[in-house]
Amino acid sequence: MNEIESKGRSPFFPDQPVPVELFMGRAEQLRHLMTRAVGQVAEGKPVSVFLEGEYGIGKTSVARFAQWLAERNHGLLGIYATLERAESMDDVGAAVLEATLRSGAYNPKLGEKIREGFAKFVGEQSLFGVTIHAEALRKEAPNITRGLLPFLTQTLERVRADGARGIFLVLDEINGIVSNPKFAPFLKGIVDSNAAISLERPTLPLLLMLCGVAERRRQLIAQHEPVGRIFDVVSIERMTEEEMSGFFRKAFDSAHMAVEPGAMDIMTHYAAGFPKVMHLIGNAAYWLDRDGRIDKDDAMNAVVLAAEEVGKRYVDQQVYAALRSADYRSILAKIARMGPDTMSFTKGDVVKGLTEKEKGKLNNFLQKMKRLGVLRSGEVQGEYVFTVRMVRLYIWLQSLQKEKLKN
Ligand SMILES: Nc1ncnc2c1ncn2[C@@H]1O[C@H](COP(=O)(O)OP(=O)(O)O)[C@@H](O)[C@H]1O
Ligand SMILES: [Mg+2]
Repeated sequence: MNEIESKGRSPFFPDQPVPVELFMGRAEQLRHLMTRAVGQVAEGKPVSVFLEGEYGIGKTSVARFAQWLAERNHGLLGIYATLERAESMDDVGAAVLEATLRSGAYNPKLGEKIREGFAKFVGEQSLFGVTIHAEALRKEAPNITRGLLPFLTQTLERVRADGARGIFLVLDEINGIVSNPKFAPFLKGIVDSNAAISLERPTLPLLLMLCGVAERRRQLIAQHEPVGRIFDVVSIERMTEEEMSGFFRKAFDSAHMAVEPGAMDIMTHYAAGFPKVMHLIGNAAYWLDRDGRIDKDDAMNAVVLAAEEVGKRYVDQQVYAALRSADYRSILAKIARMGPDTMSFTKGDVVKGLTEKEKGKLNNFLQKMKRLGVLRSGEVQGEYVFTVRMVRLYIWLQSLQKEKLKN
């Protein structure tokens, strides 16, 4: 294929939740969500879920896919709010209001009805989506925060006639807002007042879903202990081999590309169950390939490129520089070769394989890694734990790359 010739659109999305057509696996979690959460809410019973899993594991993708199913098949209006930039409780109200104005993504009829109802916030609707009047939105935000339930109830009423039976509200990217001490009581307040029998306001069929790492849920509970009881916790784990190969097949098929069995083994092995890495490897292979067939060489080269990407994108500059410093490289390589699943090690494990010179530098190396946030102390004396799996994976990929270059 000519270099300049266009290749079309890559079916890989390392930085976005996966589009519905390419969503793969997660059958067990989806079954649980559809029966125990979506189904219940469609019958009128409110449910709250904490979708838990580490960074890049696929929480947002599962949340969006579940919203898609729920909107299509169960009449729940999906509202997806990211709290990425929210610090104050007013920011939360603004995010939910804006998300509501953009709701009904999977059922345009519902979306139109909603926007008609909130016309004062909505500017022109163009090919590129909805524009929103930022100032009007900010002014209204405190009212939304204070009266979230009545607001959502009103929103549902607008689309009841179009078949909507409940609301599926996702609050994603809660990392920042969790440190606001008002957030946990706010959540508990919503759930409690919705459960309380009231004559003026009937129970709202609300599926409230939070997405975050386990640490954030613990933090919420530490701030307001009763919050622990409101959530049904659903964990998103690493993908299985079958889920990964299923995904690669589907994605490359959609681009009319074939994958040789040996290449498939390489890609799934190095993706190691991390969907984000899976997309990075797939994307690299997609752009490297010249003949419409991913062979072992394409796959291996893609893994090497993806390792660089993981390093560049997810390991912050400071850590990256430290990891590359010549002094510590050999120590790091020895730790790295313990494999991608070894999240913790003891000083004793490492010392065994080091030279005298390296041994002398081990303490400084470990302290530096702790300061950089790569490692933390484990439960046992002398134990070290990688704080972020992605970083651990990167280090491992780096060491493989070095081995490969040596061979
Ligand atoms: N079930 C899936 N099938 C295919 N790709 C997925 C799946 N889940 C996640 N991904 C991909 O993995 C990456 C991380 O997913 P994301 O949902 O953003 O994770 P999180 O919200 O946990 O950080 C994205 O590139 C996304 O497209
Ligand atoms: Mg996410």
